[in-house]
Amino acid sequence: MFTAVSNAIEAERVLYPGSFVDISPSFVFDSAVYVDSDKRAKKFFADEEGVLQIIAEHEEAPDEPDLTFLHADYTSKLDLPDQDVDLLISLFAGFVSDHCTEHLRIGGTLLVNGSHGDAGLVSIDPRYDLEAVVIARAGEYRVSTANLDTYLVPKKSQEVTRERILASGRGIAYRVPAFAYLFTRTD
Ligand SMILES: C[S@@+](CC[C@H](N)C(=O)[O-])C[C@H]1O[C@@H](n2cnc3c(N)ncnc32)[C@H](O)[C@@H]1O
Repeated sequence: MFTAVSNAIEAERVLYPGSFVDISPSFVFDSAVYVDSDKRAKKFFADEEGVLQIIAEHEEAPDEPDLTFLHADYTSKLDLPDQDVDLLISLFAGFVSDHCTEHLRIGGTLLVNGSHGDAGLVSIDPRYDLEAVVIARAGEYRVSTANLDTYLVPKKSQEVTRERILASGRGIAYRVPAFAYLFTRTD
């Protein structure tokens, strides 16, 4: 998926809150900051040589990947500058967009999936515009900008509100679901 995303957007520096041990962004992006509060993630990233070895096994990997791990709760203030990254990743890890958008540069991209409700939250966040979707088929991923208005339409006719999404902590069932969504931060 990250290969497809990296071909579709301009990004060098990535922030991945709730990454656990998913270092696949570093297979294609030059610089990444991973954040997780789990002790097992801390232990995994402490083995720097092992992590670099996994990355080096990938054909497209940068020659000298730049990697940082923060053992932190992303809902607290992270020790990172504002507007520091080009790509913010929110996959299966809660309301990342709600807590970490300040670190994404304006014009940068948020990659978010429907799980845990973050895509729903972003769909009503005025700081973001939907730019593309990631479609997964038979293990292949592609980024599409076709028929964007058909996505993020709930199956049930219900008002999508911030309060409702935060209270449920679950994704919304959409008529046409995508594997993930690419939003641009506009404000
Ligand atoms: C289901 S795993 C997903 C891991 C990874 N994003 C993936 O797609 O493979 C969720 C991860 O988010 C982390 N997480 C959830 N809330 C967090 C928070 N507030 N701060 C830091 N990490 C968090 C958990 O520790 C866990 O490792």
